[in-house]
Order: sequence, then structure tokens, then C-alpha cells
Amino acid sequence: MKKIIIANWKMNPETPREAENLSREISTASKSFKNVEVVISPAFIHASAIKGIKLGAQDVFWEKSGPYTGEISVRQLKSCGTKFVIVGHSERRVLGETNEEINKKIKAVLESGIKAVLCVGEIEKEKEAVFPAIIHQELKEGLKNIKKNFLKNLIIVYEPVWAISTHGRADSPKNVFEMSVLIRRELLKMFGKKIAFSIPILYGGSVDEKNAADFVNHGRVNGLLVGAASLNSKRFIEILKRVSGL
Ligand code: PGA
Repeated sequence: MKKIIIANWKMNPETPREAENLSREISTASKSFKNVEVVISPAFIHASAIKGIKLGAQDVFWEKSGPYTGEISVRQLKSCGTKFVIVGHSERRVLGETNEEINKKIKAVLESGIKAVLCVGEIEKEKEAVFPAIIHQELKEGLKNIKKNFLKNLIIVYEPVWAISTHGRADSPKNVFEMSVLIRRELLKMFGKKIAFSIPILYGGSVDEKNAADFVNHGRVNGLLVGAASLNSKRFIEILKRVSGL
């Protein structure tokens, strides 16, 4: 299976021109890497700058249309060519997004045939090697009552908040591996073996060109969610190159 590498540009860059240049450099280079599926998730306003590469979104609203000032629907995203939607990023959860809202978003995305990228992760580093209760809850509530046939379009990202570049330092590949096993075990309890093993689990949190290959190789994840390092084409292309070469 190809490794999935998702760039999360967050609220960057500032201008359409910068977004176009960054996107062009990444999309041109990514054509020579056969073993990676590359997605760029820009701010909504830069969606049209993303050409020749898969388009992702950083959020969505669950209603189909209507009086929801400031929101964007799955249908609107789909009509612009969006293929992946990040849901439940910790930077949205901290602004008040609940597991219940995340569940509605995940359902809306999956029902439309777009891939839903659900982010889960603990806020503080646990001292003991335990499965943090918060992740258990995020999975249980975020994936509540989802029809099994929609789960083929689900992707999970293990992204501990403490490891995001603006908070701290990357997790270790060993811990990422252990956490991905625990996440897979939760999925197994919820959906059974066949589905649990078909859902890709990615890692996010201070991924850069130096540690990316290790997370895939030793952390044994199915891909990466990259923030800060995806805003620099040289660094992001190096990540693609190293992961593709594994
Ligand atoms: P980072 O961000 O790579 O800058 O740590 C990742 C994310 O928040 O998705």
C-alpha cells in the first residue's frame, strides 16, 4: 500500500501566489515518487491554487446547505475536487469542537465518498505506557454509529498534542508504533478484524525530513501528517523522497 503523506498548511501561506508556487513545486516533484500518495490541505481560500496533486481540507461542516454563516459543506468541498478532509484536529478541538460534532462531520464526509482523516491524540505525555483514556473516548465517540461500509474511506492520525511543532518535540518511532497497535486494537473491538486492519493509521507531530523515514520504518505507520515542514517545498519534497525510498 502507498504511504499517505498529508500536508497540513494550517493558516498559511498568506497570499495566493505563495500557495500556487508551493503547490507547483511540490506537485512537480511528487510525480517522480511512486510509493507515496501526496495530499495538500490548504486554507479553503487557497483551494484553487492546488493543481496536479490531491486536494485536502482542514475542516468541514456537517449540514448540506443553508444558513450557516462561515461554514463550508461537504458538497461544496467535493465540487472543488477535495478528496480528503481532516476532522478533529487538536487545533480545532481546543477552539471548542466536541466529539459529537466531530462524529457528525465524519459521517457527512464518509457518506459523500470523500476520505475522512480523523485526528486523535492525548494532550500531555503520559508517564506510564498506558493507552490514554482520551484517545479511547475520541475514537469511541468520534466513530459512533458509522455504517461499516463507509469505513473504507476512514484514515486515523495519531497526533499527540504535545508533539506538535508549536508545542514541543516529535514522539519516538517506538512509542508511535505502540500507540498505533493500541489504536488498531480499539478499532478491532469496534469494527472487527477485517475492517480494523484495512484502516490506515498515520502519525503527525513535528514530522520533518530527518525523522519521517523512521516513523514509517520503525513506527510502522501507513503515512504522515505534516504541518510546519510542509510549508517549505525543499523540506517537504525531501520527506516524500525519503519515505518513497523505503
Ligand atoms: P507539525 O504540525 O508538523 O508542525 O507538528 C502537524 C499538525 O498539527 O498537523
